Amino acid sequence: MRAITYDQPGPPDVLKVVDVKFPQLNENQILIKVVAAGVNRPDIIQREGNYPPPSDHSPILGLEVSGYVEKKGKNVNNFLIKDRVAALVNGGGYAEYCIAEQESTFKIPGDLSFNEAACIPECFFTAWSNIVQRGGISKNQKILIHGGTSGIGLAAIQISKIFNSYVITTVGNEEKVKFCEQLGVDKVINYKKDDFFEVIKKSDARNINLILDYVGGDYISKNINLLDTEGTLVNIGFLKGSITELNLMKIMLKRLQITGSTLRIRDNRFKGQVLKELEKFVFPLLIKRKIKCYIDSIFKFEDVVQAHHRIDEGKHIGKIILNP
Ligand SMILES: NC(=O)c1ccc[n+]([C@@H]2O[C@H](COP(=O)([O-])OP(=O)(O)OC[C@H]3O[C@@H](n4cnc5c(N)ncnc54)[C@H](OP(=O)(O)O)[C@@H]3O)[C@@H](O)[C@H]2O)c1
Repeated sequence: MRAITYDQPGPPDVLKVVDVKFPQLNENQILIKVVAAGVNRPDIIQREGNYPPPSDHSPILGLEVSGYVEKKGKNVNNFLIKDRVAALVNGGGYAEYCIAEQESTFKIPGDLSFNEAACIPECFFTAWSNIVQRGGISKNQKILIHGGTSGIGLAAIQISKIFNSYVITTVGNEEKVKFCEQLGVDKVINYKKDDFFEVIKKSDARNINLILDYVGGDYISKNINLLDTEGTLVNIGFLKGSITELNLMKIMLKRLQITGSTLRIRDNRFKGQVLKELEKFVFPLLIKRKIKCYIDSIFKFEDVVQAHHRIDEGKHIGKIILNP
């Protein structure tokens, strides 16, 4: 089968389409004939050599796919051959066929296309588990989501709106500002024009209950200063670095919680439990198109280098998708 691989980590140009062996299925797994695979920032970090996959995961890039059930193990009872499915996978998504665990595989909600369905797993599992389960969001809170037009950001904004949150987001250009405003974000800050900390501090939006951040670096102390009493900071990435100098006094005085998590290393049970909550609270809204999968661009496997250049440039709004 065809898959996208690389010999040495590096820039997008290291990626190439080659023939590889079919993956071997165990009795609890599903073989998906891939129609669409999502491109995520963790793929970029892995391609650069800074995010090695766990030893029992596929070394092939790709954490989410949609497609048809091609084969299934004898313990898989919830799916039929040819079912339209999508899955959060343990690597291997950038290939014509991909192994998925039954716990993190789901039938495509409603009439969503394969390209739309491939946008769901990585971003909605991550956003839901960190905002709802870890961040403990409750109704009518103020939430700050950094990087609002990323795949994660758009999922997080829409999930927050289920809870009637006042949503503030940061983005890197005016096109992204307009996009987020049209999406219904209450306050959008172009962080390249204005210091988000100063803007929020001077506005009615200060005293934030929950912050979802993947930037880190100098954002960490700014985030802590913006949190209200009993507020929570959830870090799911550190694009600007994870080492910083912090005055912990604010944590004590405001009774803050600082937490974080990474989805990839979690076990099937955990991923299955997140999926159950998504099926209950998010999929009905996806079916009614009240929550949307925003696609920036779709590339053929042969054009994967361009797809990775596109995400590297950071100008995209929403998800980048690959089609084998
Ligand atoms: N912990 C987990 O389980 C988990 C799972 C999935 C993803 N993540 C993390 O979540 C983040 C978003 O992932 P994604 O796939 O949704 O990303 P994405 O679509 O590639 O978007 C990333 C965006 O972040 C913004 N950004 C802000 N500061 C940046 C900086 N210093 N360097 C580069 N970009 C910067 C850029 O938009 P602007 O123009 O607005 O700057 C960029 O488009 C990544 O850090 C990823 O590693 C974590």
